[in-house]
Amino acid sequence: MEKLIGKNKIPCAVFISGRGSNLKSIYNYSIKKISKIYVKLVISNKYNVGGIKFAKTKKIKNKIIIFKNKNKAEQQILEILKKNNIKLICLAGFMKILSKNFIKIYNGKIINIHPSLLPKYKGLNTHERVIKNEEKYSGCTVHFVNGELDSGKIIIQKKVKILKSDNAKTLAKKILIEENKLYPKAINKVLFKT
Ligand code: GRF
Repeated sequence: MEKLIGKNKIPCAVFISGRGSNLKSIYNYSIKKISKIYVKLVISNKYNVGGIKFAKTKKIKNKIIIFKNKNKAEQQILEILKKNNIKLICLAGFMKILSKNFIKIYNGKIINIHPSLLPKYKGLNTHERVIKNEEKYSGCTVHFVNGELDSGKIIIQKKVKILKSDNAKTLAKKILIEENKLYPKAINKVLFKT
């Protein structure tokens, strides 16, 4: 099965730390005929999270790597990636910051989703800060990963209107729906260069 897929599609790894809704959307896209990728591997820095449960139900190879020692953890991951001939890494709610050294090795091949209209609101607690600042719009961004947090070249963005009635929770929910649609589009854009 894998050999067959591998002939036509690019082996990709998805890095997660939690729920895995973006993993699910990437996977659902990957099994379509138009997709150029297949999800060969899921890496998580946490046990028993939703994304790992999902990977198991779909029989996707999955590895839990605990980041007690960052250098060691990254070396372990690099080995697994190499072994699996991974050509694209999608960070999807992965809560660890990869080292410059790691990023250099996969330069231009790591993409990430962030729940704001970058370059605004890099980092954590995005929705809370957006609401506090009474912004009219927020959204989500898929970008290449470089050595600086949430700062790599933007691939694609989706704007979301904020209503007066919105709070951080309702906004997060609305944006997540858009994130799940945006990630496959970003992958398509990267691979087809459209
Ligand atoms: C998403 O909001 C993503 O933008 C952020 O972490 C969240 C992960 O959600 N980096 P999920 O695990 O993909 O559902």
